[in-house]
Amino acid sequence: MFAKTETISSSIDKASKILSCISPTARLDSEILLSFILKKEKSWLITHREYLLNAAEAEAYKKVILRRKDHEPIAYITNKKEFMGLDFYVDRSVLIPRPETEILVEKALDIIKSGNIQSVLEIGTGSGIISCSTAYYSSQKLSIEALDISGSALAVAKKNAFSLGLTKSINFSEIDIFDFEPKKKYDLILTNPPYVKDSEIIDELSYEPFNALSGGKNGLNFITLLLPKLSLLTDNICLMEIGEGQDKYLKHNQFFETEFIEDLAGINRVAMLTNVTY
Ligand SMILES: C[S@@+](CC[C@H](N)C(=O)[O-])C[C@H]1O[C@@H](n2cnc3c(N)ncnc32)[C@H](O)[C@@H]1O
Repeated sequence: MFAKTETISSSIDKASKILSCISPTARLDSEILLSFILKKEKSWLITHREYLLNAAEAEAYKKVILRRKDHEPIAYITNKKEFMGLDFYVDRSVLIPRPETEILVEKALDIIKSGNIQSVLEIGTGSGIISCSTAYYSSQKLSIEALDISGSALAVAKKNAFSLGLTKSINFSEIDIFDFEPKKKYDLILTNPPYVKDSEIIDELSYEPFNALSGGKNGLNFITLLLPKLSLLTDNICLMEIGEGQDKYLKHNQFFETEFIEDLAGINRVAMLTNVTY
């Protein structure tokens, strides 16, 4: 695939061609993966286009390009994903953080700043991005509990909390939310629940944990079960990330008044549930 004497420039050209059949961002993917292999910033690649890869570097690059060609997401290859300007460790036990989830965290930080919020519960913390970035950027002292059904996801969340110096700020628990018996109600609940239709869990998504994504046939199984449970967990506010079109279902729920926050594409991406009716 790569000849013995490839430069940065020719390696990226070849890799981009290989990846063009699976990725609309083939060139960018090729650059990110080469900077990962060479342990250099992307800007270094630009200023060293004629640098010759040694045999070990060429071989390592070939391996990651083939993994990517098999649809493996870049974040699982590099074990890294940025979220809210912070670096998070990720592996295949957790969902890869999505940029849209920043909308939920930004709204949470606004609510925390303007309201009387002390206790926060996150349902399905995964890599811990929501709880960690909320704790990191909040000027208020918060008591945050973050739970997940997956022990291996929680190990990643704890690793991230440790790296960001947040070990004392967040209490992580391994539990199924539907078995969780709260001792109190929370001022704020944050959740990015599994909401993807099973038929859409293909290609890149098939690398991610099924129970982090699966919302069953129509995408709404988990959310439907969660709504009545949420009403036992807060009398105040819940912010929930949702999938495209799921606003129609949430608008008519019997438990909460619901408003929506749009993402950059104009899709209602976060539901803000307030005023529990019973
Ligand atoms: C969509 S992922 C969100 C991960 C992370 N909060 C994020 O935004 O990137 C959903 C998470 O919910 C967890 N989960 C699935 N079913 C659960 C359940 N019954 N109880 C608790 N957590 C659950 C999954 O393990 C997964 O980590």
